[in-house]
Amino acid sequence: MPSYKFPKDFLWGTATAAHQIEGNNKLSDWWHWEQNKSFYQKYPLEPSGIACDSYNRYKEDFDLCKKLNNNAVRISIEWARLEPKEGHFSQKEFDHYRNVLKSARNRGLKTFVTLHHFTNPLWLSKRGGWTNAKAPYYFARYSKRCAKELGSLIDFFATINEPDVYVMQSYVVGLWPPNKLNPIFALLAHINMILAHRRAYSAIKSVDGNYQVGIVKNVQHFETFSTSFSLSNFLVHILRFFSSGIFLKPLGRKNDFIGLNYYFTGRIKNLKHSNPNDWVSDLGWWLYPKGIEKVLLALKKYNVPIYITENGLADAKDKNREKFLKEILIHCSRAIEKGTPLKGYFHWSLIDNYEWHQGFWPRFGLVEIDRKADLKRKPRDSFYYFAKISKENKVEG
Ligand code: FCB
Repeated sequence: MPSYKFPKDFLWGTATAAHQIEGNNKLSDWWHWEQNKSFYQKYPLEPSGIACDSYNRYKEDFDLCKKLNNNAVRISIEWARLEPKEGHFSQKEFDHYRNVLKSARNRGLKTFVTLHHFTNPLWLSKRGGWTNAKAPYYFARYSKRCAKELGSLIDFFATINEPDVYVMQSYVVGLWPPNKLNPIFALLAHINMILAHRRAYSAIKSVDGNYQVGIVKNVQHFETFSTSFSLSNFLVHILRFFSSGIFLKPLGRKNDFIGLNYYFTGRIKNLKHSNPNDWVSDLGWWLYPKGIEKVLLALKKYNVPIYITENGLADAKDKNREKFLKEILIHCSRAIEKGTPLKGYFHWSLIDNYEWHQGFWPRFGLVEIDRKADLKRKPRDSFYYFAKISKENKVEG
């Protein structure tokens, strides 16, 4: 049985996001949208409510990370809590997150902290959200404050999570707030998020030039088996550019690392999407572990360290998670062998959580949350599998 060893100091962890686990995120645009659902609106399927109550139960969650033998954890902090009114920061909430980060550090976990994970303060959304030309300024001001207040407890700052997914869902597909379908708004939001990252990068560095600041980017792999000169091949090149370069290139040198979220591969045949779907998650997403290797190799050219900041699957019965994890990690290890500077892997997710417009039914956790029994945390079998990998720093093939 071959064994795939990971480099020394490789980071092993899990990822979550504030709105999906904390509960009662009442000053955010998402909360507002969840409460004001119109009769004709299908989504969200349910409101986030108390979520996993991790705002109060974070120590219990970090104990689980420790049981996983992890040496790092990815969380997000909530802008709507930290800046409840434009320009007014909440000392109480900074104290709260300081305690959260200290608890992680006390358990030997390096902290990977996302500053924006899909949700906005309600005041910002009332001013046009990410279409407002001042959004990059607001975001950089908030980021600087986070660096000043919490920076000494943060090992990696991730500015924005999956900017283009946010733009698509909010302004093109319309499944998320503010649900304004308008290509001009989409373009403005896209440009403002690039500017916001660049400004936040400089703002955080002005507090301490050694802070590590990067972006978290979902990158889909696209492939075709058509000949090199076919239209499908041409389309694949365009799609690849839209999936990564269009956002990553304008960041220039203002990016210390890439956080990669990998969930999807798109196979193109005769100019159409045609995934075989021979292995799928509970959400119907095609499971294709080889895609991660291809994406990693393609990101090598940016010459910065790469962390997988999310990867996982909805699998309530935990039938596929172990096999999936094994295959994904074997492909990661191959990418490292081929020279990719991959430095860490964060599984999505530690616990089952609020999967945005889908509500709570998709179960992404290594740990089950029993919503009928006081949100009890129950590790699944795959939890112990990941704990072994993390402890041994290797995966058996
Ligand atoms: C990613 C999101 C994350 C989670 C997973 C399943 O796109 O960043 O919050 O919902 O998908």
